[in-house]
Amino acid sequence: MDAEPLTAYVNGHFVPMAEAMVHIEDRGFQFADGIYEVIACFGGNFLDLDQHLARLQRSLDAVAIPAPCADAELRELLVQIYQRNPFRDAMVYVQITRGVAARAHLITAGLTPTLVLTARRLPAPSDAKLAQGVVGITLDDIRWKRCDIKSIALLASVLGKQEAMQRDADEAFWLDREGHVLEGCATNLLAVIDGKLVTHPLDHQVLGGITRHMALELADELAITVVERPWKLNEQNLTECMLTSTTNAVLPVCRIDGKPIGDGVPGTITMRLRAAMCKRLAQLSAQGSAQGSLA
Ligand SMILES: Cc1ncc(COP(=O)(O)O)c(C=O)c1O
Repeated sequence: MDAEPLTAYVNGHFVPMAEAMVHIEDRGFQFADGIYEVIACFGGNFLDLDQHLARLQRSLDAVAIPAPCADAELRELLVQIYQRNPFRDAMVYVQITRGVAARAHLITAGLTPTLVLTARRLPAPSDAKLAQGVVGITLDDIRWKRCDIKSIALLASVLGKQEAMQRDADEAFWLDREGHVLEGCATNLLAVIDGKLVTHPLDHQVLGGITRHMALELADELAITVVERPWKLNEQNLTECMLTSTTNAVLPVCRIDGKPIGDGVPGTITMRLRAAMCKRLAQLSAQGSAQGSLA
């Protein structure tokens, strides 16, 4: 449990985290019938908010859950949940389920979607992690075939992450049947091959990470060639790997399945991209008023 008093938002009410409840017949609990978003907020400024809300809408549309409220109201609630929690830099979770109904697979018409918002401290990577990089393992992809939807059905990712931890690693990366690297349990994975930034193209097998998108944009600005294609870890001239996610920005990945990536130390292109991204985040944080935040 968090030591700090946290506030959650549940269906119209801001409540202490310990009292934040949904019904046992919520379809999110019964069927994982819901979707979610995670948005970073730096000093009161949300990073890439429009992109996150657009992805949220795409996820809702894909599973035919109606939006629980208007866009402007959701934006206001996001500000509120940030301000009511004690973090300057936070990750804000939006979770929407189809709502409460007597347990049956078929969807009852006219359900009211459940809307839950929470905020947590945005963790900064340790110096050791930055110096030594992330350690990964690979696993056969056992997930469903719509990984482009940000579904709350995360059991495969939970088990993957757990297996990584049991094998002294930080993250598990999913492989398709041919051995191409798709993405991590909660991250996208990019490689540097022949000096170019390579990552799996956006299709139903990967989530379109907002941080992945930013990394590709920054690569463009830094005149690093980007290639979106299926790739494998054993390709010749693969010298670097890096993961991207809202909670990690860009992090070097230096070992996968016990083998070093390139020289086994954070790569030059990875660290250039990380520096460019951190600069953007710091600017956002500095612009942020953090008004109302208890930080
Ligand atoms: C499967 C998966 N891929 C990629 C990502 C990274 O997405 P983003 O950069 O939008 O946080 C996540 C984030 O939770 C994820 O769960």
